[in-house]
Amino acid sequence: MPLIFSDQSLLRCNTLGLPAQAAMAVLADEAQIPSLCDAVKSDQGLFILGGGSNVVVQDSPRRQVLRVALQGVRLWQETPEHWLVEASAGESWHGFVTHCLAQGWPGLENLALIPGTVGAAPVQNIGAYGLEIDQCLHSIVVWDLQAGHECVLHPADCGFAYRDSRFKRAGAGRWLIVRVRFALPKAWVPRLDYPDLQAHPALQEDKPTPKDIYAAVCDIRRRKLPDPAVLGNAGSFFKNPLVPAELAATLRQRFPDIRWYPQADGQVKLAAGWLIEQAGWKGRRLGPVGMHQHQSLVLVNYGGARAADVQTLAQAVRQAVQDRFGVCLEQEPVLLD
Ligand code: EPU
Repeated sequence: MPLIFSDQSLLRCNTLGLPAQAAMAVLADEAQIPSLCDAVKSDQGLFILGGGSNVVVQDSPRRQVLRVALQGVRLWQETPEHWLVEASAGESWHGFVTHCLAQGWPGLENLALIPGTVGAAPVQNIGAYGLEIDQCLHSIVVWDLQAGHECVLHPADCGFAYRDSRFKRAGAGRWLIVRVRFALPKAWVPRLDYPDLQAHPALQEDKPTPKDIYAAVCDIRRRKLPDPAVLGNAGSFFKNPLVPAELAATLRQRFPDIRWYPQADGQVKLAAGWLIEQAGWKGRRLGPVGMHQHQSLVLVNYGGARAADVQTLAQAVRQAVQDRFGVCLEQEPVLLD
C-alpha cells in the first residue's frame, strides 16, 4: 500500500500532550519505504516520529510527519560470545527490553522504562543508570532517503556522544532507522555503579540478577519521574551541561554542593537538575506548564499547554541558570516545526 500523508491531529503522538495538526503518514511496512524518497526531496522536509517522547510540537508544523510503526523482534544471530537481537524501529523500547529479559537475553535492564521506540533510541543515544545504548549496539539498518537505498551503519559511523548522534543533527530527515541490532554479551555483567542503584534496598545482596536490576530501575524511575500517560512530559528537558574544568572548579568553590562528574576528555558534566533547583525552579509553574517537583529537569504540562508555553518556560529556566551560574542549558527534545 502506498504511503498517504493526510492532515491529522498530533495530540496523541507526543508525550508532552501538545495540540497540533500536520500532514502525517504511518509507516507499517518496509516495502513502503522506496516511495518515501520523493517526499524527502520535496521542499517541506520530513520529520521522522517514533513514540513522540522527545519532541516539542509546534501548533502547525510545516514539515510532513512520518510515524514509524514497523514491528518485529528476532534473534538475528548467535555467536559464542553474544546474542545478536534485531528489533524493528516501531517497537516500544520498554516492551523490547522486557521481551529480551524474558527470552534470557539480558544486558538492557538499566534502560528499562524509558519511553519511546526502538528506532528513536539511537537518535538521542538514550542513556540511564550507567548505560548508554551505543555500548550495546551491533549495527543499524537504515534507509538513506536522499540516496534512495538501504545501508547498514555501525556504531563508529553514527557520531554517538552524550544524548547525541548524527541522526539527531545534520542527518535528521535523511536517515530512516528501520531495524536496530543489539549485541548482548552472554557473559552478563551487572552495571551497578550509578548511585541510585547502589543505594537501592533490593540490590544489597551479593549477586543481583538482571531481573533485580530491571525491577530496581523501574522502581526508581516510577518514584522520580512523572508517567507521561498521567502528566504530559518529554523526560529530561535539558541536557546535563558539559563545561570546561576551569569553570567547574570556579563554580565548585562558590557552590561546594554542586553535582559534578569529571569526564574522560577533561570536561566536567554538571547535573542540570541541581542547577535548576538551586535557581529556584523546582516544582514551580508558569501558566499551564512547570518544572516537576521530584526531578526539576522534567518540564510538565498540567493541561492545555501549547508549544509557546513550553518555550516561554524553557527560556525562563535557561535564563535563571545562566544568571546564577553562568552556564548555558541546551534543550534536549527536538522541535517539530
Ligand atoms: N538533582 C537535584 N535536583 C533535581 C534533580 C536532580 O539536585 O531536581 C541532583 C540529584 O540529587 C543527583 C544529580 O542531580 O545528585 C543527578 O540526578 P539524577 O540521578 O536524577 O540524574 P540526572 O542527571 O538528573 C540523568 C538523565 C535521566 C536519567 C538519569 C539516570 C539526562 C539529561 N538525564 O538525569 O534521563 O534517567 O540520569 O541515569 O542525562 C530522560 O532522559 O528523560 C531521563 C530521565
